Amino acid sequence: MFKTVEWKNNTVVMIDQTLLPEKEVYRKYKTYTEVAKAIKDMIVRGAPAIGVAAAMGVALGALKTKSSDMKGFSKEFDKITSLMASTRPTAVNLFWAIERMKAVAAANADLGVAGLKKRLVEEALRVHAEDIEICKLIGKHGGKLLKNGTVLTHCNAGALATAGYGTALGVIRGAIEQGKKITVFADETRPFLQGSRLTAWELKKDKIEVTLITDNMAGYMMKKGLINAVVVGADRIAANGDVANKIGTYSVAVLAKEHGIPFFVAAPLSTIDMKIKHGDFIPIEERDASEVTHMKGRRIAPAGIKVKNPAFDVTPSKFVAAIITEKGAVTKPYAKGLKALFTK
Ligand code: MRU
Repeated sequence: MFKTVEWKNNTVVMIDQTLLPEKEVYRKYKTYTEVAKAIKDMIVRGAPAIGVAAAMGVALGALKTKSSDMKGFSKEFDKITSLMASTRPTAVNLFWAIERMKAVAAANADLGVAGLKKRLVEEALRVHAEDIEICKLIGKHGGKLLKNGTVLTHCNAGALATAGYGTALGVIRGAIEQGKKITVFADETRPFLQGSRLTAWELKKDKIEVTLITDNMAGYMMKKGLINAVVVGADRIAANGDVANKIGTYSVAVLAKEHGIPFFVAAPLSTIDMKIKHGDFIPIEERDASEVTHMKGRRIAPAGIKVKNPAFDVTPSKFVAAIITEKGAVTKPYAKGLKALFTK
């Protein structure tokens, strides 16, 4: 199996997701600025994987700071975390990971610069290892909610979007490990094609039966009775259960509701932003127009055309049958259920 993000000999190694499925290339990053650019350019993507990469990027930056005293180190450290936080706005795991690294730095100043550097690398490795365990738990809890049949997923919320195993695809993997017979429909996921390039690649590699459809085929498939459940990941979940995920998720949720199909969201607690009360307040990344006007470098729309390219949308919680986390599945009312996750 491939490795999405790894720490190797004081470098960060990541599979270049922009080249998949044609080429499996691993890139080595030696500086935090390179890691920040890799996040921005979506070499690594998917909320939990972005969090892991950011934690490693911060550790890498800390490791290479020049100052020998804590005052100088703190100044350099602030610059590192600020750059990392400027990469992508929607996935809250990025900010969660940066805050975790900052908290470790603040709590361990007494270690001195050399000791703190070591401690920050340890923390980044912990974020990585925990993410895999969390995904497995999400898979275990979520797997129980799926019945034998077909599951539609949108975007890529798999091993490629996490440190391994995946959230939405983790639920599918969990169900299969529990002995269920599951086949997957993968939405292509225009414009960045995470579904066709990444989900289809990853599931095929894992020998999980997958059928690729374009985004506009989902309604037809549901009407035909060919889809039994939907499972997606999330980039940020508001305190009321509204879910930001890849653009197109909202349409799938509305379609699922119309056809009486359960719509599940799988995400770690690090994706839940209790500071955001309602989905309308989640910042939505707007990406470059070229992702819409071009495909593989070839223009597919007239030059000068006006374009909108929001990378995410928000699905109101009323469409969500359950939010599956490492601590179990939460159902309505979400405000109460999500809050309880942080106290138990
Ligand atoms: O723009 P991306 O590819 O980073 O968006 C990814 C998604 O929307 C995923 O569904 C989400 O991050 C969950 S990943 C486990």
